[in-house]
Amino acid sequence: MKKRILTGITTTGIPHIGNYIGAIRPALKMASSSDESFFFLADYHSIIKNQNATEIGTSVESIALAWLSCGLDPDRSYFYRQSDVPEILELSWILNCITAKGLMNRAHAYKAASSLNTNDPDKGITMGLFSYPILMAADILMFDSTHVPVGSDQIQHLEMTRDIATRFNYLYSELLTIPEPIIQDNEKVVLGLDGRKMSKSYGNIIPLLDTEKKLKKSIMKIVTNSLEPGEPKDSSNCTVFDLYQNFASEDSVKEFQTLYDEGISWGEAKEKLFNVINSELVPIRSKYEELSQNKEYINDLLSDGSKKARIIAKEKILKIREKIGINKIS
Ligand code: TRP
Repeated sequence: MKKRILTGITTTGIPHIGNYIGAIRPALKMASSSDESFFFLADYHSIIKNQNATEIGTSVESIALAWLSCGLDPDRSYFYRQSDVPEILELSWILNCITAKGLMNRAHAYKAASSLNTNDPDKGITMGLFSYPILMAADILMFDSTHVPVGSDQIQHLEMTRDIATRFNYLYSELLTIPEPIIQDNEKVVLGLDGRKMSKSYGNIIPLLDTEKKLKKSIMKIVTNSLEPGEPKDSSNCTVFDLYQNFASEDSVKEFQTLYDEGISWGEAKEKLFNVINSELVPIRSKYEELSQNKEYINDLLSDGSKKARIIAKEKILKIREKIGINKIS
């Protein structure tokens, strides 16, 4: 059977170094070893969490540009916006009709939101949030994906997708492919400026697509301890060292460790970190600058991507409709 990988990126926020290390870079690497790969912008997922239209628009643009700048090849993979493939929403409704409410009650994201409430357990909970995993199942099952690379926070959603597909296959016919999750084994928390997980909500990110100057400025802001130059430094639990490891070769990491033992100053250590990150980002940045001059090209590219994806989606949804009894009167 063909290996078909698929992954979605929720379009909230602006891509940062943490997204690059944890999601973009490994997914693109995996794509090069798969028969087929699907990458899409999960814009209908993003409106669950964010009702600011301008922010959504900005995020869609910067995430699309980030993936393309980092080397996603639109000719060799399917790259599209979820909202441009309406068959996904159609399938989502169909799956809603066979998914037990009890299954959704157990979803972590929903439970976390509801546990924040004191009196009314439903306060601030939308149906979008509640049925989020069903839309995600539709994204995956629409294209008979065999492998889904995700972060560990998404494992439960993959299990739910498998449950929903199994139920569909049992009720109607063996039409849906049961996907396997691929948990990125190098998935390690990427630390941000303040030593906590790098995340937009903590305001501790290092931007991916900014100028060299801004990159340097933000690296210089990484919080360190107050050990003086010449005093040996501990590389464990060290944000600078941690980030360095994500970009440097094994040999360079060993040398960096020696420099830590010898008491490199924080200024120099950060300079080295900047150089190693920057040299990986130089080609990405120049591609980004080129692409951001040409928004029409990006729109065309996404539109072509959805056309390609819809050929598969339309064929699949017809088969599904037929199985559930939504077809021509004969
Ligand atoms: N929920 C995923 C996340 O927040 C994004 C996503 C939406 C996704 N649909 C998907 C991931 C389908 C993999 C497959 O990270």
